[in-house]
Amino acid sequence: MILDHDVIVIGAGLAGMRAALAAQQEGANVAVVSKVHPVRSHSNAAQGGINAALTDRGDPWEDHAYATVKGSDYLGDQDAIEVMAKEAGDAVIELEHMGVIFSRDEEGRLGTRRFGGQERARTFFVADITGQVMLHVLHEQLMKAGTKVYEEWFVTSLVMDEGRCVGVTALEMMTGELHLIRANAVILATGGLGRVFEPSTNGLIVTGDGMALAYEAGGSLMDMEMVQYHPTTLKSNGVLITEAARGEGAYLLNKDGDRFMERYAPNMMELASRDVVSRAEQTEINEGRGIDGCVLLDLRHLGRNFIEERLRYINEVTMDFLGMDLADQPIPIRPGMHYQMGGVKTNVDGATQIPGLYAAGECACVSVHGGNRLGANSLLDTVIFGRRSGVAATEFALGKTVPAVSETVIDTEQRRLRSIIEREIGEDSVASIRLEMGQVMNENLAVFREKNGMEAAKRKIVELKERARIVGIRDKGRVYNTALLFSLELEFMLDCAEVIAASGLSREESRGAHFRVDMRERDDENFLKHTVATKSEKGPEISFSPVTITRWQPEERKY
Ligand code: FUM
Repeated sequence: MILDHDVIVIGAGLAGMRAALAAQQEGANVAVVSKVHPVRSHSNAAQGGINAALTDRGDPWEDHAYATVKGSDYLGDQDAIEVMAKEAGDAVIELEHMGVIFSRDEEGRLGTRRFGGQERARTFFVADITGQVMLHVLHEQLMKAGTKVYEEWFVTSLVMDEGRCVGVTALEMMTGELHLIRANAVILATGGLGRVFEPSTNGLIVTGDGMALAYEAGGSLMDMEMVQYHPTTLKSNGVLITEAARGEGAYLLNKDGDRFMERYAPNMMELASRDVVSRAEQTEINEGRGIDGCVLLDLRHLGRNFIEERLRYINEVTMDFLGMDLADQPIPIRPGMHYQMGGVKTNVDGATQIPGLYAAGECACVSVHGGNRLGANSLLDTVIFGRRSGVAATEFALGKTVPAVSETVIDTEQRRLRSIIEREIGEDSVASIRLEMGQVMNENLAVFREKNGMEAAKRKIVELKERARIVGIRDKGRVYNTALLFSLELEFMLDCAEVIAASGLSREESRGAHFRVDMRERDDENFLKHTVATKSEKGPEISFSPVTITRWQPEERKY
């Protein structure tokens, strides 16, 4: 089938739904295409909150912007950070008006908690399920607006015409039918790539689809070496234990009961930026002061009532997976892969270098997070740049005639998918390649990195790509062929993995989350610049682009 829209949004998480809503309000005939039902999107898993400096609380947006710049280890583009910090207050109030019932303080006003890398409490929250509540409210708004959603449709490729993005091909999972959706503007809002690493706090659906689609179509991926390891995840399965726990006063302890953050970040302690806390924890573990590969997170002094009211979800998680009650015992946690700071290079309106192609949310790199994202800036990023990209994409699309792409695009793509289904089944499997990829990435591109490890990971990814090219799948049918989808996701992930390793090798310094034990210092003279990866026949080609500095000159980062 051929379908036509002015604007299509790929992904129905917070960035995607906010973009679609904006496009619809601006008068576009817009549709969302999502591989899962919208409320199953990974934004659902965001726990701790959303940052905003409210001027009427005596909190100037410049303070939030500065904390973000410093958190980014000066790699964030300051013009984009200014936009985000300035618009944050209105965005939070708008969410409240839409129906997000934020938790209150004692006086009944919107409550705030303190998050890492910030001097004051400016994180608005709904207990420890902020993302879930925001996602459901935005879905309600989308239904109210009557926005078309192609649910459980998997985008297999971007359709290009003379260097312009003019639509997508998408597989309807229930029927196995491949459709061509033509549009004058396409917004990628597919989230991150967490599952390139194993384990990860991210859902199994988080497979770098948008980044890989843009890369394949000739777009640039920026700062992909910047992978965030969250300081508090469960060892067994990588599940997130929100930073809100530390924001509300929890301690980190080593095996001797020592609050070790005193030695690494004497001012901010447990609320230093995530890269700093994760490195401190890993150092404690590596130097023998951990317990079974973990350190401890202690909430006991917060008391049962407080935990029940504000941190109920993480208490359920620890009961379910560890059989431990946060009110009674400190729990073992360790740094775990959580977020990709890099992504598809865009401007502050979500425009990529490809005309007609936009990106927002975690799959984009605007860049507001630079080398290290502050906790609770990600929900903010989704709504600010989701809205802006919806407006800009509509402006670009309206008034243009529907791109004249013919049905032959479907036939070509169909043949590609058939050739995957028809491959011979051998010993190898998509699952084992995926696991090997995740493990090699987690081994060599985690909290600490060095040249040999990154080179080994890159070589391994090239080998895995060869295996993935011929690996057979067992399901030969059309209806809900999830084996085919996993195979396509694997291709996306391997492209992302290769770019991460190549970008990491090209950044010959330590900055933010990219800490090289063989090059421990930040080198502003040579590396205060973004890495930019584009696809070539030989693999990722890396170039550099300047960082935008408006008012905050790089300084030594201390917490
Ligand atoms: O810890 C958390 O609640 C995560 C928040 C975030 O990544 O922004």
